[in-house]
Amino acid sequence: MKSIQVGLLGVGTVGSGVFSVLQRNQSEIVRRAGRGIEIAVVADLDTARAHAAVGPAVKVVSDARAVIANPDIDIVIELIGGYGIAKQLVLEAIEAGKHVVTANKALLAVHGSEIFAAASRKGVMVGFEAAVAGGIPIIKSLREGLSANRIQWIAGIINGTTNFILSEMRDKGLDFDVVLKQAQALGYAEADPTFDIEGVDAAHKAALMSAMAFGVPVQFDKAYVEGITQLGAQDIKYAELLGYRIKLLGITKKTDKGIELRVHPTLVPNKRLIANVEGAMNAVMVHGDAVGTTLYYGKGAGSEPTASAVIADLIDIVRLHNADPAQRVPHLAFQPDAMSNAPVLSMGEVVTSYYLRLKVADEAGVLANVTSILAKAGISIDAVLQREADEVGGEGATQTDLIILTHDCVEAKMNEALSQMQVLKTVLGTIVRIRKEELA
Ligand code: HSE
Repeated sequence: MKSIQVGLLGVGTVGSGVFSVLQRNQSEIVRRAGRGIEIAVVADLDTARAHAAVGPAVKVVSDARAVIANPDIDIVIELIGGYGIAKQLVLEAIEAGKHVVTANKALLAVHGSEIFAAASRKGVMVGFEAAVAGGIPIIKSLREGLSANRIQWIAGIINGTTNFILSEMRDKGLDFDVVLKQAQALGYAEADPTFDIEGVDAAHKAALMSAMAFGVPVQFDKAYVEGITQLGAQDIKYAELLGYRIKLLGITKKTDKGIELRVHPTLVPNKRLIANVEGAMNAVMVHGDAVGTTLYYGKGAGSEPTASAVIADLIDIVRLHNADPAQRVPHLAFQPDAMSNAPVLSMGEVVTSYYLRLKVADEAGVLANVTSILAKAGISIDAVLQREADEVGGEGATQTDLIILTHDCVEAKMNEALSQMQVLKTVLGTIVRIRKEELA
């Protein structure tokens, strides 16, 4: 049978990886898919770069719409990125009856509902395994492997840039800015690194996983997003002393009241496997009622790891493109007419535990004042660490750091307790609050 014909839009790092892995593993892929997969035409504004990546046998054009208009093309791979022209091209490809494969988490997190609805109307598939955690087959796991379960929570290191930065800061005592530059040079960071360091990229991915885990719409706009730019080196050290590592986690949980969807720096016990995921690696924990806790680990970015996910989607499409669309796996795991309207909870309604660091005057009664505010709020203390003033501020210092770990409480209560502690005369600077998850 003739190979299925694929058009590739954007031949950067991932596009070149897709081309070379498809070539290298074609015979193995044919054995799996039952048919060859051929990139017949590529579109890139930089045609010289595209020619260099795909060689003389593949047609190169600068106009992506020429690929979409080509009647021989069955599948369009979108690797342009962003919400602008990429959105137009994806919708036009769907309208032209092409299946689409994309790694574009920003696009799907913001416009996923519109894109999946358009694809369902036209009876085409949109594959996006590469959009979350790169080479880790987490979409496949959520959508198919775990489909017997009521999924209860997901917690993931789903941004390699920030995990690399946090690992290097902890290991080598380097400053945030130095490590960010290294991450960019290594090609982990988004074109705009604020998406990485402010938690936006992780929130795009968390919103997609949340939708697939709980059968709710993709609701990036309702996610709580806090990045790592405010994180101090001393908090990384204190967390370590208390047996925790700080990771930027994407978390989504189902509770009786609704869905938690949040990205923020999080203390994780260092005995958990996920706490030991270092460098640019990604890892996702999924807890289902039947399976218990599962963990998926691998490269979340890079040319061939991401190509691995793109090509897996191509193979799925080859296997299913002649099937009745009603028999295919739904884009977001649940049947479109069976979606839940469970609300996404505000941060005030979230239940979690906390690390607090207070800069305090080293005098009698300070600890009692702070703990009595927590006690009155019904917040239970898990551990307290008070540094000797000399150790923190040098000989003769009169201030010290007081670190408190709490048990779970509703965030609104913690906010109230924090505002009361903040105005105590003996509390000398802004209190640092970092959320903590035991992930048991
Ligand atoms: N900038 C992303 C990261 C790339 O650092 O993980 C993959 O989405």
